[in-house]
Amino acid sequence: AGDLGRDLDRVLISEEQLREKTKELAKAVDADYAGKELLLVGVLKGAIMVMADLARALHTPAEMDWMAISSYGSGTKSSGVVRILKDLDTDLEGRHVLVVEDIVDSGLTLSWLLGNLKSRGPASVEVCAMLRKPAAQRIELDVRYVGFDIPNEFVVGYGLDYAEKYRNLPFVGTLAPHVYSS
Ligand code: PRP
Ligand code: MN
Ligand code: MG
Repeated sequence: AGDLGRDLDRVLISEEQLREKTKELAKAVDADYAGKELLLVGVLKGAIMVMADLARALHTPAEMDWMAISSYGSGTKSSGVVRILKDLDTDLEGRHVLVVEDIVDSGLTLSWLLGNLKSRGPASVEVCAMLRKPAAQRIELDVRYVGFDIPNEFVVGYGLDYAEKYRNLPFVGTLAPHVYSS
């Protein structure tokens, strides 16, 4: 590891594709929230890129807030038991909340988060995720805005990390097996 060219297997979704999809998603969101104001809730850290790009593509008035959450225990993160590391600064009462995520993998993080947010009295809660892995999903979820359904592979870039690396790649790529198997 360390040599980016060798760490990556291939580009799965290009910068151009991400840009086009962001426009499509923003258009759909704008149409659905006409006359309303949005509260975008980004899930740190993976959602930073999607949040920055989607927020700038929207015409709907939008505030941005952030949550940092973590699964209990290390290693396998798919326990579905989550704790809040940083909560929202915003009161959700009566707000139209759009959760912004980079990826829905097992779906367990988001499932917990939706339950948590809905208990705070918002007018509505929907989700926008740039990526989704249908083959990995372990719980049924209503994700209103999805960018791309992708295969069940190890992906990084555009906010997604492997051990905190590769988040800053402007595209989504698959990681070469030698990086995570050694
Ligand atoms: C990743 C990703 C999603 C979540 C999806 O975050 O950004 O938030 O996992 O996984 P799930 O659908 O299986 O629950 P992670 O916990 O790695 O934190 P990060 O965003 O800081 O990388
Ligand atoms: Mn995340
Ligand atoms: Mg991560």
